[in-house]
Amino acid sequence: MASAAEDLSALTTLELPAKATARRDVADLPALREALDVARAAGLPVIVLGEGSNVVFAGDVEALVLRYTATGRTVLAEDDESVTLRVAAGEHWHSLVAWCLEQGYHGFENLALIPGTVGAAPIQNIGAYGVELAPFVEAVHAVRIADGESLVLSRSDCAFGYRDSVFKGALRDAVVITAVDFRLQRTAAPVTDYPTLREALAGRAQAPGPRDVFDAVVALRRARLPDPATTPNAGSFFKNPVVDTATADELARRYPGMPQFEAPGGRKLAAGWLIEQCGWRGVEGEGVAVHPGHALVLVSHGGDGRALLALARRIQASVAETFGCHLEIEPRVYGVAA
Ligand code: EPU
Repeated sequence: MASAAEDLSALTTLELPAKATARRDVADLPALREALDVARAAGLPVIVLGEGSNVVFAGDVEALVLRYTATGRTVLAEDDESVTLRVAAGEHWHSLVAWCLEQGYHGFENLALIPGTVGAAPIQNIGAYGVELAPFVEAVHAVRIADGESLVLSRSDCAFGYRDSVFKGALRDAVVITAVDFRLQRTAAPVTDYPTLREALAGRAQAPGPRDVFDAVVALRRARLPDPATTPNAGSFFKNPVVDTATADELARRYPGMPQFEAPGGRKLAAGWLIEQCGWRGVEGEGVAVHPGHALVLVSHGGDGRALLALARRIQASVAETFGCHLEIEPRVYGVAA
């Protein structure tokens, strides 16, 4: 097998140094199928990337790194109440959100400024400020890596959960998402109950409209989260842990002021708060750091994936020791022995 030769550092927002055996960008379905044939013939596994904003390369990979870059937005159906769109996987997520706002297609406002592509969005069921992607998804179009067959998955086939979907489970590494169909509303119904968003929108004479929500979310993210363009990062490095209600009550008694949110199966704890309480906010070393503005985000200052994962493991150990809960790494990690 050929030795790893293609540099991957520019393909992910963490900019970690790593190499792959091969890489290809493909912009349409015939080129995608041809690239999958080449990988199969060479016996290479396929790693699919979008904008690489939720990916950690901890070392080199013996794989074909593939990006499906097709763009395009088509209105499939529209009436007074709703619109159904088909959006190609290579579209930039935030550009879609901004365009939908301009068109009067509502629902995505709280999901403004999330880095990444449309094709990546269903994989982790992107979510922010009280809204998740899942209820807007009508269908996900994909091509099976094993044989190039086209698949169409309904919303229920996608098995969406908190930062979770079938694409992280039964279909992990099995498909390339090529387009997503979304249904949005023609009448705005702003969702403003997430605490920091509610505070940001408080004190207005009129109820906030969709543009106000979009602007407030953009401002909140810019104030709190590092811009991957200037500070390499992959957003939240851990999922917020969900604990049962009895455990959550006991933790709230021991740690007054601990943020907790109702969630299926109990209550969601704020991993950023837990990490900050353990003293990690702003800690840096070996070219990696815990972001000083938000402890849930790990950043790179020229470090490598090994240093980043070592920092993550130290954080997991200290949160487990202090609070008794396990923090699960959220981005997809490649290039480490299983
Ligand atoms: N907090 C701290 N210290 C910190 C960070 C947070 O005390 O260093 C506290 C906050 O004050 C707040 C609570 O933790 O009381 C929750 O913080 P925040 O509102 O920032 O949200 P989060 O739970 O840390 C989640 C998502 C974010 C999303 C925000 C807003 C996950 C893993 N992360 O973060 O998503 O933008 O909610 O809805 O669910 C991402 O996935 O990359 C991401 C940025």
